[in-house]
Amino acid sequence: AQPWRGVIAEYRDWLPLGEETPTVTLGEGGTPLIHSAWLSEIVRGEVFVKVEGDNPTGSFKDRGMTVAISAAKGEGAEAVVCASTGNTSASMTAYAARAGLTPIVLVPHGKISAGKMAQAVMHGGEIIQVRGGFDECLNISRGLAKDYPVALVNSVNPMRLEGQKTGAFEIVDVLGRAPDLHVLPVGNAGNISAYWMGYRQYADAGIASTRPAMWGFQAAGAAPIVRGEIVREPETLATAIRIGNPASWQLAENARDESGGRIDAVTDDQILDAQRRLGAEEGIFVEPGSAAGIAGLLAAAEAGEVPSGQVIAVTVTGHGLKDIDTPLSRIDSIVDEVIEPTVEAAAEVAGLR
Ligand code: F0G
Repeated sequence: AQPWRGVIAEYRDWLPLGEETPTVTLGEGGTPLIHSAWLSEIVRGEVFVKVEGDNPTGSFKDRGMTVAISAAKGEGAEAVVCASTGNTSASMTAYAARAGLTPIVLVPHGKISAGKMAQAVMHGGEIIQVRGGFDECLNISRGLAKDYPVALVNSVNPMRLEGQKTGAFEIVDVLGRAPDLHVLPVGNAGNISAYWMGYRQYADAGIASTRPAMWGFQAAGAAPIVRGEIVREPETLATAIRIGNPASWQLAENARDESGGRIDAVTDDQILDAQRRLGAEEGIFVEPGSAAGIAGLLAAAEAGEVPSGQVIAVTVTGHGLKDIDTPLSRIDSIVDEVIEPTVEAAAEVAGLR
């Protein structure tokens, strides 16, 4: 088998890109689908974790960005803009750097993790901090793209969802079938919509004979779809999904309803607990927002809402190293004792005998 060539080369026939469109890639996609014995036992089924933190900039955004930036480059854009809670900006600035485009990012002041900010800085982003949340940033991005020569690459750009749907393709390609259930976090609601498009297209083409129920989970303090109304001041420790008025709201509801799925909320405590357990039980370190799907699956299992014997895919969307402050500030299991430099002292603290 030849090495993985990136999302566009691997799935070009499924993407609406012209033949002349250049390919701007960092080798994204082809991420691990890891069987979880821990979760499988809890739900009495087979659970596979799609580890999107293994993408080049550490999140699933790279799948959409390779397509959106390639299309923008092909159309002659010179600058690109996005609003972001951090991951979109990390991804956009990296792909823009590769394409030779000027990246402009709008972020909520004080609400994006240091790791994600560092990425945008290193990739040469023009970083604009806004007194407001993601929703305000997105409005400004739309306004800039409307009135100035700059291409919008938020997920309202259809190329983003086109790229992100390849996550669903990969799962079916690896499992040889669609899962019964697909679980993931929901913020701006692009990814759940993209996965559903991917599963639908594979089913329509006869590559999979079934489609999964889509289960999305929002953070309780930022759960507009669950509440059925815009949340003016969304709040959650999971800053990646701190969004009160998702752009793909309607598409996400369609995905939920057409698939016979659900969109529910999980609390910050459930998110942090799921994040910690996934790290400790399976060796998979994800950022808090990424753990919302795991948290939702655990809560549903506890409530007896997960039918047994199902094949379940859970997308964990971003790498844990993106945001180290949140776990370090909340988790008290860190050994803070400092010992004399001897084997005996270390053995004693470690409880070895
Ligand atoms: N998980 C992570 C790690 C994210 O960064 C995001 C969104 C989501 C889940 C939710 O995905 O928006 O498609 O429903 N992050 C965006 C950003 C908003 O700006 O990086 P969604």
